[in-house]
Amino acid sequence: MFEKLNPKQNDFLFDVINENMARINILQGSVRSGKTYISLISWIVLVSQFPKNSSFLMVGKTITSLKRNCLSLLSDLCKSFTFSTSKKEASLFGRIIYLEGVNDSRAEQKIRGMTLQAAYCDELTLFTEDFFSMLLSRLSMPIGTTNPDSPAHWLMKKYISRKDDLNLKIWDFYLDDNETIPTEIIEDMKKEYTGVFYDRFILGKWVQAEGLIYSKFANDTSAYIIDSFPIHDLQNIHVGLDYGTSKSKTAFIAIGFTKGYKDLIVLNEFTSKGVSSPEKMYEKFLEFYREIQREYGYVLTCYADCGGLGQVITRGLQSYCLQNKTPVKVYDCRKFRIIKRINMDWEFGTIYSNGEYI
Ligand SMILES: Nc1ncnc2c1ncn2[C@@H]1O[C@H](COP(=O)(O)OP(=O)(O)OP(=O)(O)O)[C@@H](O)[C@H]1O
Ligand SMILES: [Mg+2]
Repeated sequence: MFEKLNPKQNDFLFDVINENMARINILQGSVRSGKTYISLISWIVLVSQFPKNSSFLMVGKTITSLKRNCLSLLSDLCKSFTFSTSKKEASLFGRIIYLEGVNDSRAEQKIRGMTLQAAYCDELTLFTEDFFSMLLSRLSMPIGTTNPDSPAHWLMKKYISRKDDLNLKIWDFYLDDNETIPTEIIEDMKKEYTGVFYDRFILGKWVQAEGLIYSKFANDTSAYIIDSFPIHDLQNIHVGLDYGTSKSKTAFIAIGFTKGYKDLIVLNEFTSKGVSSPEKMYEKFLEFYREIQREYGYVLTCYADCGGLGQVITRGLQSYCLQNKTPVKVYDCRKFRIIKRINMDWEFGTIYSNGEYI
């Protein structure tokens, strides 16, 4: 059914078979370290140990991510496992497994009414604290996998750091444990992460970001400054707008993607702490926008901050530009999980060349 398990995976499976589990069971550690793989094998074993009329739950951030991360692999691993994401139900050895996404507003209500024997949770740090605590009130044995996050994350603060009081057990996994990934690829992956991301996703540590996000860049900015580049290499140009409040700055950034989205070049930027009125800000924006148009010929689209009164400010900005004979296309920015924005990892879609998201 599966390739040779490594010692860490064997330990976890051994604990499941011998019912050496706790009330809450978490597999944590580096990316691609084999947590999901062994947790799914163990889930098969665990489910089979319960009577036929038992029911179970598998939860992911969304049903789509649950399918991508777990359900497809589970059906490869075990022919008895079948699932339907539209019905939100799966079956394993004749036992029912309900499927849910944390993001589904009806999920919480539905789970409240269920009697469950065990639950499988994919990527626990993406759950809301309320959802997880409600889940705990329904059953006694969740198994969950996760990568580390900030030490201030609810999962660390309220659960993992109190593991002795809570009857919670942790199994740690590291990238080097996964013998199924060739060493050269592991070495390449290690180079892809720096700073806090290296600490979390490679070393498997719960560490604080401390404000430094792109540390590789921040520690060597001169290596990223270029004097010139062929303008015809630019495939499209976008402007991002962030509206400052009393504490934060207002910022406009113009970026260009080179062909095939190979490189991202910051073409110009404007920041200001003391924008006294929307009109002043609109004026500055128009100047900025026209300068980009003059230099590069066009701006495809703008993406603006849309929290609080953001959309109202954007409307004002668009009509100001129009009154000044410069029609500007402004879309609301998409607010994914911060980590996805930083990694430019869009879960729900991609940007089309006309600037719209799908
Ligand atoms: N014992 C094994 N036999 C065969 N393939 C394995 C084994 N262990 C892990 N893998 C494979 O290694 C890859 C990474 O494993 P897995 O997805 O379980 O890691 P993970 O720790 O859940 O990673 P992430 O934190 O990124 O979700 C997968 O392609 C998985 O199928
Ligand atoms: Mg995983």
